[in-house]
Amino acid sequence: MIIIRTPAEMRDWSLAARATGSTIGFVPTMGALHEGHASLLRAAAAQNDKAVASIFVNPTQFAPNEDFAAYPRTFDADRAMCEEAGIGVIYAPDANALYPEGYATYVNVEKVSAGLCGASRPIFFRGVATVVAKLFNTVLPHRAYFGQKDAQQCAVIRRMTRDLDFGVEIVEMPTVREADGLAMSSRNRYLTPEERQQALAISRGLFKARAMMEGGERDSLVLVNAVRNEMDALNIDYVELVDANTIEPLARATGRVLLAAAAWVGKARLIDNIQYEVPEQ
Ligand code: PAF
Repeated sequence: MIIIRTPAEMRDWSLAARATGSTIGFVPTMGALHEGHASLLRAAAAQNDKAVASIFVNPTQFAPNEDFAAYPRTFDADRAMCEEAGIGVIYAPDANALYPEGYATYVNVEKVSAGLCGASRPIFFRGVATVVAKLFNTVLPHRAYFGQKDAQQCAVIRRMTRDLDFGVEIVEMPTVREADGLAMSSRNRYLTPEERQQALAISRGLFKARAMMEGGERDSLVLVNAVRNEMDALNIDYVELVDANTIEPLARATGRVLLAAAAWVGKARLIDNIQYEVPEQ
């Protein structure tokens, strides 16, 4: 396992790999890896000649009142998971290497970033897009892997990759869930056993609404209320039905839709979603 700490070394390694004709698969992460990440790591290793994972808790995507300092840092376990999944390189720069004194350049992906998580976390997607752009510029991947649990993040990255001509193929992998339906998340570590039980209301509500869509329900309000009713003991941030690509709100389900929810459960802000392709009439 090669551990790389600076953008210059990362770029040199990637240029050398590309010069030999190797394809590079890339999984950007903030560490605290779980089975959801493992599915991305394994896919990157299986589908490319070389596979790189980054581990970097990105300060620019956290607002001052958020959990940047508390975010779990578990490098040794993360490294073991990467190794087991077949990752050859971990890129783990420190914050000064990515954001040196005087840093002033940010990537803003308009519209797609505005709703859902972007509404309650106004600087979040600017930070995500900026760091992913910087990582793409140094890792120089052919393919990059993201989880659909962060569906709006996927939409933002897809848009940015197209708009800025990165030439990277974005591969999205399905949300990995615990046996009882809870979407895997690094922030599940913040939950007490009781809160973990309460958190199940999110996936329960989303599954119920998906069954309703499969049964023909198309009214956004009815679908959203079905989810909200399940989640009513939680501190709900949002439940919304939106277009899966543009993230624009929908009054009726049509095309590829994203039904997304976010809620506070104790100290943890959890997100989850389901996607559904509405059959053409
Ligand atoms: O999904 C994440 O872990 C982060 O938002 C990402 C994409 C690694 C950027 O910091």
